[in-house]
Amino acid sequence: MITPEELETIEQTALKASAKAAEVLLKHIRTKQIYEKGSSNNLVTAADLEAQEVIQDVITSTFPDHSFYNEEGEDKDSLDSENLWLIDPLDGTTNYAHGIPIYCTSIAYARKGKVLFGSVFDPNLNEHFTARAGKGAFINGERISVSQRSSLKESVIATGFYYDRDTIMRRTLGSIEALFNNGLRGIRRMGSAAIDICWVAAGRFEGFFEYKLSPWDFAAGMLIAREAGGLCTDIGGEELSLKSRNIAVSNIFIHTEMLKILETTRNIK
Ligand code: IPD
Ligand code: CA
Ligand code: CA
Repeated sequence: MITPEELETIEQTALKASAKAAEVLLKHIRTKQIYEKGSSNNLVTAADLEAQEVIQDVITSTFPDHSFYNEEGEDKDSLDSENLWLIDPLDGTTNYAHGIPIYCTSIAYARKGKVLFGSVFDPNLNEHFTARAGKGAFINGERISVSQRSSLKESVIATGFYYDRDTIMRRTLGSIEALFNNGLRGIRRMGSAAIDICWVAAGRFEGFFEYKLSPWDFAAGMLIAREAGGLCTDIGGEELSLKSRNIAVSNIFIHTEMLKILETTRNIK
């Protein structure tokens, strides 16, 4: 069990860390120092690295013995750790490197695999999405909830592509086509999975799916979407966990239909 006082300290620490990260991101936006990470499509900027460092410094100064699962750097502690912080200092790096103002900082706190607090801060729209387990989801302190649209023809769904250009890309494109063939109103590819998921929580998108995400991309968003009344599963319909990779998030109403259509693309190689 976690006490409300502990959770309050966790939230205040995360808010302080993401405010500092936002300063770093906005400061570096003009320098555009870009390094390639694994492939030429996977960029890392000086801002990713510095933001990661400031977030970790803030958290460690309050919680010196907590564990980390960070996108940047070496820290990848067990996803079942007693006190785990999952951090994506800059979600939307490709956008950032191109000056496209759609990116955020995602910070989640999990206890033994269960996310208890999530924060996604979009410094461009100045929208701070937060949720505590069991206490609802908020933008800048105002409660949010998923949309009520219940058919694909009135739905907009977001998606994303992992950096691979092989099977996953083809399956994503096949999924988009299959959704359109079933009457979907619109598809969006914003470039930040954490923002996509929070926009489902805020009722802007009816759903989101992506093949091969990492826990730092969706840990905070998953709690925020659930607390806003949304449903988060893997593509097979199993409850989403930090160990899942293929993600489906929705306002609940379109979930079964969306999964049924995505299932038809399973054999795309
Ligand atoms: C990426 C973004 C993107 C998604 C990719 C992620 P990054 O994260 O969330 O929208 O499609 O799969 O890896 O690299 O910008 O932190
Ligand atoms: Ca990311
Ligand atoms: Ca990132």
